[in-house]
Amino acid sequence: MSASAVLAKQPLHDLDEWDDFLEGRYKEGKTAEEFRVYDATATPGVAEFYRQNHENMTVDYVLGKEAEYFSLKKGQKTIWEAADFLNTLVDDSDPDTDLTQIEHLLQTSEAMRRDGCPRWMVLTGFIHDLGKCLCLYGEPQWGVVGDTFPVGCAWSKDIVFHEYFAKNPDRNVPEYQTKYGIYSPNCGIENVHMSFGHDGYIAEVMKPYLRDESLYMLRFHSFYPWHKHGAYDHLCNDKDRSMLEWVLKFNQYDLYSKGHTKPNMAELKPYYDDLFAEFLPPTLAW
Ligand SMILES: [Fe+2]
Ligand SMILES: [Fe+2]
Repeated sequence: MSASAVLAKQPLHDLDEWDDFLEGRYKEGKTAEEFRVYDATATPGVAEFYRQNHENMTVDYVLGKEAEYFSLKKGQKTIWEAADFLNTLVDDSDPDTDLTQIEHLLQTSEAMRRDGCPRWMVLTGFIHDLGKCLCLYGEPQWGVVGDTFPVGCAWSKDIVFHEYFAKNPDRNVPEYQTKYGIYSPNCGIENVHMSFGHDGYIAEVMKPYLRDESLYMLRFHSFYPWHKHGAYDHLCNDKDRSMLEWVLKFNQYDLYSKGHTKPNMAELKPYYDDLFAEFLPPTLAW
């Protein structure tokens, strides 16, 4: 199937529709159940997106994607090149009022900078969604965004649209349906196979260069069942629990820093050139 044929069948208007859904889900104090009921009728695209994600995200699928992408064979790019590449992800939205992908990244990182967050965190804010370029490699929306969760063990009830797992083929693998599944108690979530998406991919790209706090923000920023609902503590070790506060700090900016003023790229570029050079090599393997 051609890339355009794949895109034609995508349930979300664009990837930002998922981000907007998250923001609404956690902003208005609704329970997950209230949102689920609301969303299945009000925005059927989001419900359909989760149906595809939950039905197809199997252990086999995840292991296959990890083998394909975690070996970083998609070429060398600078951060600006990666951001420009992500910007080619065009959607049907209004170009006059909607922000580009780079502008969204800058809003997150600039909000952190205004609040005096450490420089490594500002960098993390800027790069955290660069993995969404998976869409440009032809991956479907359900394999790029969405709440993440461990595969190979029982699905938590705290995963939104939990009922859609009914048709996931892993339902029929008894080992995957136990509390610990293929893992051992408190093995550490870094040793768990997470549902595949932009989070895990960008964390692999950055793994050689950034501190643990930053890598946890990248790898687990969409793991809402864990960082918002406290699920999967039985797989966590002490390191995970100490990193949680940083993931939560990050999440505030990821969810709520979106505005409508366009950041001034020309003015900001020198600061980010210095920031990238402080922590990263000129080009990285993607
Ligand atoms: Fe993200
Ligand atoms: Fe984000």
